[in-house]
Amino acid sequence: MKISLPQNSKMLRKEFLYGVATASFQIEGGIDSRLPCIWDTFCAKEGTVADKSDGSVACDHYNLWQQDIELIESLGVDAYRLSISWPRVMNQDGSANQTGLDFYINLLDGLNAKGIKPFVTLYHWDLPQHLEDNGGWLNRETAYKFAEYTELVTKALGRRVHSYATFNEPFCSAYLGYEAGIHAPGLVGKEFGRKAAHHILLAHGLAMDVLNKYSPDSMNGIVLNFTPAYPATNSTEDLAATKFADDYNNQWYIKPLFDGCYPDTINLLDEAHKPDIIDGDMDIICKKIDFLGINFYTREVFKADDVEPFVVVPPEHVPLTDMGWEIYPQAFTELLTTLDDLYDLPPVYITENGCAMPDTIKDDVVDDQNRIAYYQQHLNALNDAIEQGVDVKGYFAWSLMDNFEWALGYSKRFGIVYVDYETQQRTVKASGKAYRELLAKRT
Ligand code: BGC
Repeated sequence: MKISLPQNSKMLRKEFLYGVATASFQIEGGIDSRLPCIWDTFCAKEGTVADKSDGSVACDHYNLWQQDIELIESLGVDAYRLSISWPRVMNQDGSANQTGLDFYINLLDGLNAKGIKPFVTLYHWDLPQHLEDNGGWLNRETAYKFAEYTELVTKALGRRVHSYATFNEPFCSAYLGYEAGIHAPGLVGKEFGRKAAHHILLAHGLAMDVLNKYSPDSMNGIVLNFTPAYPATNSTEDLAATKFADDYNNQWYIKPLFDGCYPDTINLLDEAHKPDIIDGDMDIICKKIDFLGINFYTREVFKADDVEPFVVVPPEHVPLTDMGWEIYPQAFTELLTTLDDLYDLPPVYITENGCAMPDTIKDDVVDDQNRIAYYQQHLNALNDAIEQGVDVKGYFAWSLMDNFEWALGYSKRFGIVYVDYETQQRTVKASGKAYRELLAKRT
């Protein structure tokens, strides 16, 4: 199967940027040459990661980066989205780890030499463990440490970076890490989630100033994930529960950036669960950004509940990915047009979209027609949003290659390239070939 788009689609023009994305902890390995991070600690705990694995080797990208650049080039993409590992580039005393910086300098030089634009994320969840030992994102100080780290990186990398994102998915770091406890550092409690989120957003704002000072020519912004919320029924209760869920999971992270305040739902929270907002914080957070990165995978359906403000209705009798996530591309279009209505958006990049599928490899072939179908449906949905006026400038497939899928370890494969973790052999899947063919058709 091929991926196709309507002939007159803006997404078939050369100006529309296509890329592939990864994140440091998920692919690098090479842990001996960096400080420990919260994911190293989390993985070492009993019962945290499904297959009891960790990031010590992952895709061994730390050693195989040169061949990985060739792999990226072979896909015909315009851009590569990667993240920098904070514990690899900064020592505990705040000084630079030159070996770590050199790794990224070489990587970026290699990409630029091939005309592949580097989209760099400064934080994709691998907080240095020593900062967690000091309270992590519950400690306001961490936001200022993040600004120092941003300064160190921007000064060292100079003009090599096309685009900086401060954070990848604050929702995941704050909610999954500090409230639900299914991601590192594994804290559980409603008293933590919003506080962590606020400090992350504050860190974003502080870092935007640093980026604009030391890297004014790059495109600087942030990456947010959205799981659009749909009601189980049209009852008043379910609609109210869905609104609460949407505010809590989605709008919580975007509204402060554009409107300088949290959703009104904040007034429904227990005092003890509210963030610690200091005068001036919202102005710091509400900084102009050059672009907004949006990650989309699925939607969720909600209903009212007697105890909780909302509960998720698990998907039944609908198409699912290997993550158990509903395949519902219409939500992608609706998300983009809704955000465009609600906020004064800068240019948008889809910084992640893709799916885990139960891949098998036979005679060096991974015939993942189901993943091609997912991409086809979601690229169509994106095209619809663009036709309705949303200013989307690019799209990144998640992921370049199979990698460490957080609490699910290596058991879920999101790549358009298959990774044999025994041999580190990379094999471009049918979806990778279909993606390459689509990109080659642009005029
Ligand atoms: C994250 C990725 C992750 C992907 C699939 C996103 O939330 O940014 O790191 O692998 O979703 O779960």
